[in-house]
Amino acid sequence: MTSSAFLSAPGVWRMRLGEDCEAATPVSLRRILPDLEALHEMPQVGELPIRNEEISFEQSARGLLIRIPLRDEDVYGFGLQLKSVRQTGKKRSLRVNSDPVTDSGDSHAPVPFFVTTGGWGVLIDTARYATFYVASHAHPGEKLTGPAGELAEYLATGTEDLYGEQRTASSEIVIEVPHVRGVDLFLFGGPTLLDAMRRYVLFSGGGVLPPWWSLGVWYRTYGRSRQDDVLKMARDFRDSEIPCDVIGLEPGWQSHAYSCSFSWNPKAFPAPMEMLESLKKMDFKVNLWEHAFVHPSSPIYDRLKSFSGSIAVWDGLVPDFSLTETREVFVSQHTEEFIAEGIAGFKLDECDNSDFLPYPWSFPEYCTFPSGMDGEQMHSMFGTLYASTITEAFQKSGRETLCQSRSLGALASPIPAVLYSDLYDFKDYLRGVVNAGFSGLLWCPEVRNAESREEWLSRVQLAVVSPQVLINGWMLPLPPWRQVDIGKNLAGELEEGWQEFEGVVQELLQFRSRIVPYLFSAFGEYRRKGTPVCRALVCDFPEDPALRNVEDQFLLGSNLMVAPIAPYLTEREVVFPRGLWIDLETGEEFQGPTRGKIVGKRKLPPIFVKSGTLLPLARPQNQIGQNPVFEIDVVRFGDGLVEPFRLLAQAPSDGKPEWLELIWSDLDEPTCHPQAGNSQDRFRIASWVRWQPSHPAIPSFQTSTRADE
Ligand code: GAL
Repeated sequence: MTSSAFLSAPGVWRMRLGEDCEAATPVSLRRILPDLEALHEMPQVGELPIRNEEISFEQSARGLLIRIPLRDEDVYGFGLQLKSVRQTGKKRSLRVNSDPVTDSGDSHAPVPFFVTTGGWGVLIDTARYATFYVASHAHPGEKLTGPAGELAEYLATGTEDLYGEQRTASSEIVIEVPHVRGVDLFLFGGPTLLDAMRRYVLFSGGGVLPPWWSLGVWYRTYGRSRQDDVLKMARDFRDSEIPCDVIGLEPGWQSHAYSCSFSWNPKAFPAPMEMLESLKKMDFKVNLWEHAFVHPSSPIYDRLKSFSGSIAVWDGLVPDFSLTETREVFVSQHTEEFIAEGIAGFKLDECDNSDFLPYPWSFPEYCTFPSGMDGEQMHSMFGTLYASTITEAFQKSGRETLCQSRSLGALASPIPAVLYSDLYDFKDYLRGVVNAGFSGLLWCPEVRNAESREEWLSRVQLAVVSPQVLINGWMLPLPPWRQVDIGKNLAGELEEGWQEFEGVVQELLQFRSRIVPYLFSAFGEYRRKGTPVCRALVCDFPEDPALRNVEDQFLLGSNLMVAPIAPYLTEREVVFPRGLWIDLETGEEFQGPTRGKIVGKRKLPPIFVKSGTLLPLARPQNQIGQNPVFEIDVVRFGDGLVEPFRLLAQAPSDGKPEWLELIWSDLDEPTCHPQAGNSQDRFRIASWVRWQPSHPAIPSFQTSTRADE
């Protein structure tokens, strides 16, 4: 069967496949409407590469089966996929899961959305655990790609031959949505892959523009910390000039966790308001850990009893966040008890699910909820509904926030929350940065402990070029630069040579502040145009087949490319897209498209600047703060045409965006527009510098002002 498509927003079409669509879906439960104004400003979509009649569906006892043709194109997306970037040839089971241990599709944040190099995308509006067969299965008689299909005589001799990618041949994507008889499909036009992604983000309501301070360094304190320990650590950070903007408290701040009382622990935190006041004076923002399961001792327990699921988790109620009543209880309690007292955000833990751990701690799929949703639907929506409830509390209080959430789903791009995980594989963490943008999500490759300082630094190098720089010390009595390996140092003793190491860490964390103005401007483009800040190379260069499966490099904004080096390695191969790329730390040039090798121990993550860029680099600072002022060195790369750079000056709550345009054409003196106003107060241009070939492109970042040196 086929169906007709109706224009739902500029460049976005809706098709209803079948009938009796379910009531609880991402679109029906959305809290934020599409950004129609921004969608109107996008390029016109010509004829879609997919015609209505090419999309077909069948109903069966298993649910709904949808077929969409593919034409020699590669497929990306499906949410936060930590195990692979290019999804062509794979079977994706989109179950919410806290331990996606294999490349199955399971994820903290699965999203039934994909885009293709053909320049279009599809969202299946379902909260079911849909399975996507992405050109993974062939019909009898259809030719396989690779030697198995192409050679007349062929004998597989190894597992790679048997199970490698060449077995995939089909030219369609088949989607199975279980239990349903009907579903809405949304088709996103391009004309390019990046445009289709943008359209999805804008259809979701736009991207997040995080507060300035949230782009600084975050530190989560030891789980057993008491009030005095937190204050001591905070003072110590300021005294030793370790960059930090946000202090996060782990479960111990509550009188009961797990499940949660959402009340201060009077023994460990006898005077929380005094502590918050002291932290405020030291210019820290405070973030509190919690999860959604409500313990009987909580003041909100009784009010939530009739608005919760049929199963308890860790003895706590599972709130049905799709109900207004539930949301109101959380919003009012969080506003009065915490936001009004200055809390700047929450870490929303355990809102995913557990299938692969010995104890399946979360609610089961057969759980029922007062809204009529079952456990499967609720799992797909839980993180998004929970995070939107909590972040709405900030919005209603007129306060900006950036929260953390361990699960999110479809249409979550406008929710100010960053994803994180308990998993810790470096390659997975890097893939998360590369991949999350396809589905309008932000991912944090958080840094905890490490087996060695070397490994730890590699992890921090990745963190400082990611959406959120978080050091999660919840298992470490001392900060990791004083105690890097919990396994060898259970007593939390100062490790030998920590002072010197602390200096190295300080410089690396300060580097983050140098790119904050650049990053904030990239987030401005995300908010306004839906362009993800961290994105795979294929997004900007879909025509280059060499870039289609690059899992360990990403674009940071539109002018920088990052190629992190994994722990313990001192060299790696880098794939360069077309154009001239300049290594920020060494000044080495690479004329793309090409492959190059970078070698040597580095202080910074390997970052390459596209020639033709005016790069604003801030002078290092230890805090970003609520209303920062930056001293900027503008570095010009390239002689020919150099694009003006638009620096975003305005903080999110200020209303209309305000930009400062940096201009430096070959003929004229460098200049900025406008020449007066708020943007000039935010940025003081310290220098305009022409990059000299084969010189390091970054003015030395050894500007340490440490008292003990
Ligand atoms: C985990 C979470 C960790 C830490 C811990 C505290 O679920 O992912 O980051 O917060 O809980 O109990």
